[in-house]
Amino acid sequence: MALADFQNEIYFQGLGGVRPEFPTDLTKLEALAERKLPPEAFGYIAGSAGTESTARANREAFDKVKIVPRMLRDVGVRDLSVELFGQKLPAPVLLAPIGVLSILHPEGELAVAKAAASTGVPMILSTAASNTMEDVAEANGDGLRWYQLYWPKDRELAASFMARARAAGYTALVVTLDTVSLAWRPRDLDQAYLPFLQGIGVANYFADPVFQKAIGGPVTATNRPQALLHWIANFSDPTNTWDDLAFIREHWDGPVVLKGVQHPDDARRAVDAGMDGVIVSNHGGRQVDGAVGSLEMLPEVVAAVGDQTTVLFDSGIRSGSDVVKALAIGARAVLLARPYGYGLALGGEAGVRHVVRCLLAELELAMTLTGVKDIGELTPEILRS
Ligand SMILES: Cc1cc2nc3c(=O)[nH]c(=O)nc-3n(C[C@H](O)[C@H](O)[C@H](O)COP(=O)(O)O)c2cc1C
Repeated sequence: MALADFQNEIYFQGLGGVRPEFPTDLTKLEALAERKLPPEAFGYIAGSAGTESTARANREAFDKVKIVPRMLRDVGVRDLSVELFGQKLPAPVLLAPIGVLSILHPEGELAVAKAAASTGVPMILSTAASNTMEDVAEANGDGLRWYQLYWPKDRELAASFMARARAAGYTALVVTLDTVSLAWRPRDLDQAYLPFLQGIGVANYFADPVFQKAIGGPVTATNRPQALLHWIANFSDPTNTWDDLAFIREHWDGPVVLKGVQHPDDARRAVDAGMDGVIVSNHGGRQVDGAVGSLEMLPEVVAAVGDQTTVLFDSGIRSGSDVVKALAIGARAVLLARPYGYGLALGGEAGVRHVVRCLLAELELAMTLTGVKDIGELTPEILRS
């Protein structure tokens, strides 16, 4: 079934008096989630670093690029599928890693895993999940899943995370580079809120045999403060350099993708280090305030390494047209983030599925109406800046 058929499904349900439970313009979800969520949880997902100028720059970068539709180009049969690392995806979209999802909905990552599996879209599970990677894998079943590593200081723990992820069927590794420390995030600071300190988002750590060994046994009410201190001490290793990627290669025998690349020289270094891909991302503006909009850097990264490695993109994807723009510039696929988090907050698994179906339907329609029938035809010629 064509992804765009979701449009007809909605209109036909309207004949029976049924309207979509959630908005179909994905930019409308944030305001609804704000009404539903506790202020701390809403601040955590909606907030960015500092004055939030980078988050604004992400959107401005999309607004500056325009699509120029073409006519009479036979778009009768569309194919949105794309191959990534030998796996065929129904569309060039993955669900970005978002940590601590249980603050948005009690089912957290489990709901996302089920929605992802039912739509065929891969899920990238965060190290900072509120459910263990094994439980999420079970909920995801036959779905495609990648694992995102926050590279802990304790190398034995890092190796254990990677081994567990491989065993649980995660096929690619995403190493996030832009979070050597948590940024200055005023919405969280003003509410003195960091979910990890309440023991939320640390499930992968607390369940890990290496982590448990380090604190002298399983986490209990008694040693919980010690476990949290150990988590803080190990969350990241700011001393890592490009040479350290050899450690990752040694412990992961599948594709490795570096997330958080913005500068073309860093993309070149990723290629030199034998990485399989980069994700051009600024973490949705949550790390460096005053940074360049992520989409603005995409052309340079594509020019530098597009013919040597897989370039993916995130930070600011809100609509099907945004996906068209990122792919036309040269990304092979994009990561959807905050909108599915808001969908989760509003409707759990059904909310996430709604968001994914909307995005994919809108993407197919945007391509069709632009005169493009498959991903290969998305080239810079359809854009004007
Ligand atoms: C609440 C929240 C939690 C996030 N957690 C992670 C994470 O655990 N690991 C990671 O690599 N990126 C994380 N990200 C960043 C996303 O993967 C993605 O890069 C970013 O949200 C893209 O920006 P956008 O949501 O504005 O499109 C998080 C983002 C949000 C909003």
